[in-house]
Amino acid sequence: MEQNLLNLLMKRRSVRIFKNEKPDNELIQNIIKAGLLAPSSKNKKPVEFIVIDDKETILKLKDCKNKGNIGLDTAPYAIVVIGDSEKSDVWIEDASIAASYIQLEAEELGLGTVWIQMRKRISNQDNNSESEVRKVLNIPENYGVLCIIAVGYKNEIKNPYNENDIDASKVHYGKY
Ligand SMILES: Cc1cc2nc3c(=O)[nH]c(=O)nc-3n(C[C@H](O)[C@H](O)[C@H](O)COP(=O)(O)O)c2cc1C
Repeated sequence: MEQNLLNLLMKRRSVRIFKNEKPDNELIQNIIKAGLLAPSSKNKKPVEFIVIDDKETILKLKDCKNKGNIGLDTAPYAIVVIGDSEKSDVWIEDASIAASYIQLEAEELGLGTVWIQMRKRISNQDNNSESEVRKVLNIPENYGVLCIIAVGYKNEIKNPYNENDIDASKVHYGKY
């Protein structure tokens, strides 16, 4: 049996160093389509994306987070994943699924990504990362900022996962 999706899931690793080369807009549009195809609770679709290719802005976004932000140093694209908290009380779940879809489509297209968490994180100046991102990008107050997905051509080699990495002890059958 061909296991295309499982193979893709084995291959996907977080990439934090990117090549200088900018992916074509068509690839980015396909990645965004994947995000827009993600399911959402009650089909309320509270998730939106901000696509950024301006280096200066990407570096400003990097400063919105005090650590775990190195993927934004070299990323030619940053996709900010936000959700309207007034539209859905479970926007975080919806946005997380959309962010994962984005990461998987990017992998399928030969690009690397890393999820850079913003919600519940702080900036270099000890401010709330979400508020800082809102300020940089002019995002209305009612939107939560889940994460930024850094996207680009991979400039580091990561081993794919293999069967040994799959931890069967996490799975319980019938009862815990
Ligand atoms: C909710 C979430 C938050 C994450 N936050 C960050 C982050 O802020 N910075 C970062 O470099 N990686 C972040 N990551 C990536 C994880 O570190 C990475 O997925 C994990 O170490 C497993 O490695 P892999 O992606 O190569 O499988 C995050 C991943 C998830 C799912």
